[in-house]
Amino acid sequence: MNELAQDLNRQIQQENSHIYELLSELGKKLYFPKGILTQTAEAKQKAYRYNATIGIATEQDQPMFIPLIQETLANYDPKDLYPYAPPAGKPELRRLWREKMLNESPSLKDKSFSNPIVTSALTHGLSIVADLFVDKNDSLVLPDKLWGNYNLIFGVRRGAKIVTFPFFTEDGTFNTIGMKEALLSQKDYGKAVLLLNFPNNPTGYTPTEPEATEIVAALKEVAQQGMNLAVVTDDAYFGLFYENSIKESLFAQIADLHPRILAIKIDGATKEDYLWGFRVGFITYACGYPAVLDALEKKTLGIIRGTISSASHPAQTFVLNALLSTEYQTQKQEKFKILKKRALKVKQILDLGDYRAAWDYYPFNSGYFMCLKLKGVRAETLRLHLLDHYGVGVIALGESDVRVAFSCVEEQELKHLFDLIYQGVQDLLART
Ligand SMILES: Cc1ncc(COP(=O)(O)O)c(C=O)c1O
Repeated sequence: MNELAQDLNRQIQQENSHIYELLSELGKKLYFPKGILTQTAEAKQKAYRYNATIGIATEQDQPMFIPLIQETLANYDPKDLYPYAPPAGKPELRRLWREKMLNESPSLKDKSFSNPIVTSALTHGLSIVADLFVDKNDSLVLPDKLWGNYNLIFGVRRGAKIVTFPFFTEDGTFNTIGMKEALLSQKDYGKAVLLLNFPNNPTGYTPTEPEATEIVAALKEVAQQGMNLAVVTDDAYFGLFYENSIKESLFAQIADLHPRILAIKIDGATKEDYLWGFRVGFITYACGYPAVLDALEKKTLGIIRGTISSASHPAQTFVLNALLSTEYQTQKQEKFKILKKRALKVKQILDLGDYRAAWDYYPFNSGYFMCLKLKGVRAETLRLHLLDHYGVGVIALGESDVRVAFSCVEEQELKHLFDLIYQGVQDLLART
């Protein structure tokens, strides 16, 4: 059991053992991780200069937003705000999100996939996947560069056995062979849930076309060997593709791939529409069997009814209104351009070669983030040093990786940010 959970249990036990005895197995295992949120909280206090920790986007010291949403907040009809939304979400919103998916991933045309069901954003969608497909000790296979919350959602809450494989090959491409081997290592169990997140948090990487083709072929081969796979695409940062990567969701290629494969798309307005606090996401299933899709949709409604009952109605109305607006694409494109310019700027700065002694960087081409691989200093030591001496907040991941959210730093400030990180590394190296 996690040490933090043990501490909490001891705390309850010492005060009142009766209440400890009331806890369920899950209740005993639960804790609040000291992960990104703790590091972000520290940065909020100390990173007076640059706070590159948070998973949102900012502009002129404010959260980034699409003006049409902000401008219309006072104009809604009460009927679109106050009543309960249906458990599956507002029908018009579901229809438009499906249409949006088809426009953005045209390979979905002629594939059999469900209507998107509204969730209380992506974390909730992922927890529905965990509830529906993961029993204790079932395998969750995923690359080793990952969003830490998967551990709570799948590991702590549902008891999944988490099997990781190295995200990148030596050449800096997606490690399809590692993925296939990791899946096949679970073959004796007959099934696995595979979780793929592109654009990736934390690396900012999305596979290229040839890599995507290899991934899809590998999944088919694993299924042909008799394994049942639920393949989840976490498309949180969908659409933020800046370079030579695929521009469609992998979900489109995995839908209908093989009778043993169920494709599940988790996406939503959180990151791609800059609506982090609104909590609107979607879960969509694809396989070649419409009756299965219908049954899965009903089971999903059962979970929603039995947990949150229905997602926020006002938030759904705001997203729906945005999707209906003629300004939506243009305004979204504006924000896309800002983030793309920042990503390209980061690459340009790093490619000058000035920091070569301090770190390498992992390949990135999309999303909100990029990751440095430090040389000779520990990531956590550097994070604390940068906070204490330079007012700079970054996220430390494992021994040597540092995640930088360029989504939160203006383009003209990026050079200074990396100069300060570099200076931090130099300070630490001088001490050793
Ligand atoms: C990869 C990934 N998936 C899912 C989420 C959760 O998104 P939401 O806020 O919609 O629950 C995040 C948030 O940081 C994320 O980075």
